[in-house]
Amino acid sequence: MILLGKVRILFSLFILFRYAAEFCMGGDVITASEYIQDPGSIISSGGLYKLGFFSPNGTTNRYVGVWHNKIPKFNVFWVANRDKPVLDSSGVMTISNDGNLVIMNGKKEVVWSTNVSTSGANAKAQLLDTGNLVLLKQSSNTGTNGTVTVWEGFQNMCDTFMAKMKLITDENTNEKQVLTSWKSPSDPSVGSFSISLEPLNIPEVFLWNGTTLHWRSGPWNGKVFIGIPQMQSVYLDGFSLVDDKEGTAYLTYNFAEVSYLSFFYMRSNGELLQPFWDEKYNHWRIDWSTRESECDVYGKCGSFGFCDAKKSPICSCLRGFEPKKVEEWSRGNWSSGCVKRSLLQCERMKNGSTKAGKMDGFVKLETVKVPNYAIWSSALEDDCREQCLSNCSCAAYAFDAGVGCMYWSGDLTDVRQFTNGGTTLYVRLAHTELEGKRDLRAIIATAVVVATLIFSICAFFAWKKSKKRGGKDTEQFAEASSENMLGESFRKVNLQELVLYKLEELAAATSNFSDANKLGEGGFGAVYKGRLLNGKEIAVKRLSGASGQGLQEFINEMVVISKVQHRNLVRLLGCSAEQDEKLLVYEFMPNKGLDAFLFDPLKREQLDWRRRFNIIDGICRGLLYLHRDSRLRIIHRDLKTSNILLDQELNPRISDFGTARIFGGKEDQADTLRVVGTYGYMAPEYAMEGRFSEKSDVFSFGVLLLEIVSGRHNTTFNEEDQSLSLLGLAWKYWEEDNVLALVDPKISVGGFEVEIKRCITVGLLCAQELPKDRPTISTVISMVNNEIIGLPTPDKPAFTERQTTTDTSSSRQRQKKYSANHVTLTALEGR
Ligand SMILES: *[C@@H]1O[C@H](CO)[C@@H](O)[C@H](O)[C@H]1NC(C)=O
Ligand SMILES: *[C@@H]1O[C@H](CO)[C@@H](O)[C@H](O)[C@H]1NC(C)=O
Ligand SMILES: *[C@@H]1O[C@H](CO)[C@@H](O)[C@H](O)[C@H]1NC(C)=O
Ligand SMILES: *[C@@H]1O[C@H](CO)[C@@H](O)[C@H](O)[C@H]1NC(C)=O
Ligand SMILES: *[C@@H]1O[C@H](CO)[C@@H](O)[C@H](O)[C@H]1NC(C)=O
Ligand SMILES: *[C@@H]1O[C@H](CO)[C@@H](O)[C@H](O)[C@H]1NC(C)=O
Ligand SMILES: *[C@@H]1O[C@H](CO)[C@@H](O)[C@H](O)[C@H]1NC(C)=O
Repeated sequence: MILLGKVRILFSLFILFRYAAEFCMGGDVITASEYIQDPGSIISSGGLYKLGFFSPNGTTNRYVGVWHNKIPKFNVFWVANRDKPVLDSSGVMTISNDGNLVIMNGKKEVVWSTNVSTSGANAKAQLLDTGNLVLLKQSSNTGTNGTVTVWEGFQNMCDTFMAKMKLITDENTNEKQVLTSWKSPSDPSVGSFSISLEPLNIPEVFLWNGTTLHWRSGPWNGKVFIGIPQMQSVYLDGFSLVDDKEGTAYLTYNFAEVSYLSFFYMRSNGELLQPFWDEKYNHWRIDWSTRESECDVYGKCGSFGFCDAKKSPICSCLRGFEPKKVEEWSRGNWSSGCVKRSLLQCERMKNGSTKAGKMDGFVKLETVKVPNYAIWSSALEDDCREQCLSNCSCAAYAFDAGVGCMYWSGDLTDVRQFTNGGTTLYVRLAHTELEGKRDLRAIIATAVVVATLIFSICAFFAWKKSKKRGGKDTEQFAEASSENMLGESFRKVNLQELVLYKLEELAAATSNFSDANKLGEGGFGAVYKGRLLNGKEIAVKRLSGASGQGLQEFINEMVVISKVQHRNLVRLLGCSAEQDEKLLVYEFMPNKGLDAFLFDPLKREQLDWRRRFNIIDGICRGLLYLHRDSRLRIIHRDLKTSNILLDQELNPRISDFGTARIFGGKEDQADTLRVVGTYGYMAPEYAMEGRFSEKSDVFSFGVLLLEIVSGRHNTTFNEEDQSLSLLGLAWKYWEEDNVLALVDPKISVGGFEVEIKRCITVGLLCAQELPKDRPTISTVISMVNNEIIGLPTPDKPAFTERQTTTDTSSSRQRQKKYSANHVTLTALEGR
């Protein structure tokens, strides 16, 4: 009996040990004692990734790699001993005596090692939940939590570019991190394809086949690669390129949605693709690939060739060019490319011709991938063209708001058509090559004009005018982005434009801040109209309770904000900071706020649809400048009709921007105790939790847009349906597929139905409950201007219910509270 009992105890102990041993193997670390032996593995702490031995399809060789643990594996992201397999199943991965992570075969020979000299005793390797395998060593430095990373798999990439990896290029040392393909599906050793980031000039990703360029992403414009039109919307927030302006840059990405499982993988045949785990259907889907069409292959149609996958044959010559070798070209061998038919004017002049003829011109190619090897110039949009014309070796130019002016000399290679997205490219041609088409265009234009009513001619001119203004906007963007590129240099800019006014001067100008001169009251204080001694009219904002900053900080902030200039922003002229008064001086806008027009029974008639659209577009552009293109990344936080001022021509100017900054909010996204803003415009996450981001401005913009279209106030309108807010009403009409019912009856809709509907849809998209569902402002611009085909379907907006009557008073109180000065003050004291 007793014996049996003992056996039983021993047996259970044995079970316990076995369990313990297996448990250890399931951990996420490898140490000298906790090694893994084929077929053992470790799993990252969150269970997402697994590291272990595997054999690729078609071989019995053993490799150590990392792959998805919870879902079927698409591929092995990372392989340690890719060049040196263990030939049988005797492999062991452990920490060697010198502190390196090693793989040994059955004969205890090291087949692979992290091979770092700095690794000490007690080193350990850990598989992180990002899929990164790191080698950690003990550190005496307590600040680093006892360990430092001495080696990581993410810096020794294989064929997969995972979230948080950094594709680094250092031009100073000429060191590049590259992704390299497998040799074949059954051989992980380094194959012929590689991917690198080339930050020279304008950063771009290249995929090489040996030393031959196989695919390129197109230039990086600060948000997307302009040669990948799919990036327009999907990846907008994921990718970033960090450039230290000193020759080192890296590309990285991180999906905002943590649960989004996706990565970039290069097959052994050189195809780069993006698989994505579709949770709904439990399978891998390919979202994007570099082999979607033959035109993806670099230089498919040779130099000066043009690739259009929708045409047959796919290759043609650029306009004004003809095949270099007609016979080969007709056989479908396009590699020889094309040559120019007529010499350019400047070339003829060089030849010594006295009759050089008329000036060269440009043929415009829309939605294309720009050629390779762009040269960057600091020229603005209009000058970009002039600069190209003035240099005989300039063959084409293009302007992208994010990149600036690009031009090309020599061959134009890898130009292809996109269906949407892409860039507008201007190819230089001799005048004679351009004439034919222009005549045709004139004929079409005449036909259109004849066939159209006078009304639409007017509309056309109004449209042209607004387009022209749009052009000037991009000019300003260019200014901003070239400024970015110039990096440091802005610090040296002379900062004298900001005027420091005397308090008494401003008191005199505003009749001592008399109520008669008061223009309005904003979230940060009252605004007064003033007239300086020299007769100049100004608007003076008296910051209530001042800010928590010191004087110098305040002035510094003002200097910076005074540099933020855009035609859709009200200009800050100066400031004053004396005693406890802090005053901001703006240019005066005689037309006052948009609310004065929009909600005025008479004046609103001045705002026809064209004007309203122009206002919507202008607000977008101003906001984009604040969010993205100014150096400061300003979140407005109090966007509303009364903060949109109108200039003489009824162009919108955003006012009150940067005020939140002066009060100390500097993070891109932050939690704040001080909820400033106006009830009815505030995004739910901001109103309720004090979380603000660019997306909370987008929400306010959505409300604003719907107000402009409908001519109704979101907070104070009493309409048919008392229980609905403006957002609720818009949503109701949307669901009834009757959004035009929302439109201000003062607008004559005729001919603009599609545009108006699109705007309302964008408004609803912006006002969605969840910030991540709302588009960014740059996407909004593309949507409003119909550059995105097929808008997403909006979800129900936030705040669709209207407060009941009893609640209305409390909501007024809330409004008061949110903008009340003491709230601001109390919180500031708490800082
Ligand atoms: C492995 O190879 C076989 C035969 O070549 C093929 O049918 C199978 O799909 C391959 N498996 C994977 C995972 O590639
Ligand atoms: C380890 O690195 C040294 C130089 O740092 C090099 O000479 C040696 O070949 C490397 N060993 C392995 C196994 O890679
Ligand atoms: C130190 O590391 C442990 C475990 O890795 C972690 O829980 C802890 O928060 C870290 N402490 C600091 C100060 O980083
Ligand atoms: C890559 O280059 C090799 C050798 O130049 C060539 O044989 C092969 O076809 C190329 N692959 C692709 C996909 O272009
Ligand atoms: C295509 O043209 C190039 C250059 O003209 C030539 O070298 C090559 O042999 C041709 N290829 C084929 C398949 O004819
Ligand atoms: C002009 O020069 C080009 C080469 O630069 C030559 O091919 C062409 O024949 C010349 N034309 C005349 C009219 O001299
Ligand atoms: C014309 O363009 C070429 C090519 O970029 C450049 O080397 C040259 O300096 C330019 N010439 C002038 C006058 O700007």
